[in-house]
Amino acid sequence: MRKLALYGCGGFAREVLMLLEDLGQGDRVTALYESDEIWTARAVAGIATQPISRFDPADADLVLAVGNPQARRRLQSSLPAQTRYPTLVHPDARVHRSSGIGEGSIVCAGSIVTCDVAIGRQVHLNLATTIGHDCRLEDFVTTAPAVNISGHCELGTGAYFGTNSCVREKVRVAADAVVGMGAVVIGDLAQAGGVYVGNPARLKPTR
Ligand SMILES: CC(C)(COP(=O)(O)OP(=O)(O)OC[C@H]1O[C@@H](n2cnc3c(N)ncnc32)[C@H](O)[C@@H]1OP(=O)(O)O)[C@@H](O)C(=O)NCCC(=O)NCCS
Repeated sequence: MRKLALYGCGGFAREVLMLLEDLGQGDRVTALYESDEIWTARAVAGIATQPISRFDPADADLVLAVGNPQARRRLQSSLPAQTRYPTLVHPDARVHRSSGIGEGSIVCAGSIVTCDVAIGRQVHLNLATTIGHDCRLEDFVTTAPAVNISGHCELGTGAYFGTNSCVREKVRVAADAVVGMGAVVIGDLAQAGGVYVGNPARLKPTR
C-alpha cells in the first residue's frame, strides 16, 4: 500500500489519524505537512512535521486534514496536479451503495449518508452527521459534528455547517455560506459567503 501523508497538523489532523487507526491504516502515515511559512519542526502524535515544499506526490497520497473549507480549497490549489487524495470512510459510518463520494472526502465515525446522495471532492462530514436521500453536496462542503441535512438538499461549494445545525428538506444553500452552531435552516440560504444563525436561520448582519 502507498504511503500516506496529511496536510494539517492541528486538532482535526489528529482526529484523522484516529480515523486511519480505526481503518487499520495508521502505519501508512509517514509525515504531517504544514505551509512553509508557519512550519516548525516538531512531532505531532509521534509523527514528524514537514514543510509542504518537501512533499512529493510520487511518494505518498495526501489527506487534506484542515477543517476550514476555504483554507482547504486554497491548499489544494497550491499542490501538484498529480497529487492523489484518498477518500476515507470510518468503519462505523454508513454510506449506502447508491450514493457516491468524491476524491479526498472524509466521512467520520457515526455519520450516515443514505440513498442516492452525490458528494463531491474534498467534502468533510464530521462525527455523527446525517445526509438524507437525494442530496447533492458540492466540493469542499464541510459539516461539524451532529449536523442533520434532510432529503433533496443542494449544498453549494465550500458551504459550512456548524455543530448541531439542521436543514429542512429541499433547501438550497449558496456557495461558501456559513451556518452557525445550532441553526435551524427552513428555507434557501441565497447569499454566497453569508453567515446564517438562529432558529429559524437568518442572515447575520455584518458590522
Ligand atoms: C456563526 C459563527 C460562524 C459566527 O462567528 P463570529 O462571526 O465570530 O461571531 P461572534 O462570535 O463575533 O458573534 C457575533 C454575533 O452573532 C451571535 N452568534 C454567534 N454564533 C451564533 C450562533 N451559532 N447562533 C446564534 N447567534 C450566534 C453572537 O451572539 C453575536 O451576537 P451579537 O452581535 O448580538 O453580540 C460562529 O459563532 C459559529 O457558530 N461557528 C460554528 C462553530 C462550530 O460549529 N465549530 C465546530 C468545530 S468542529
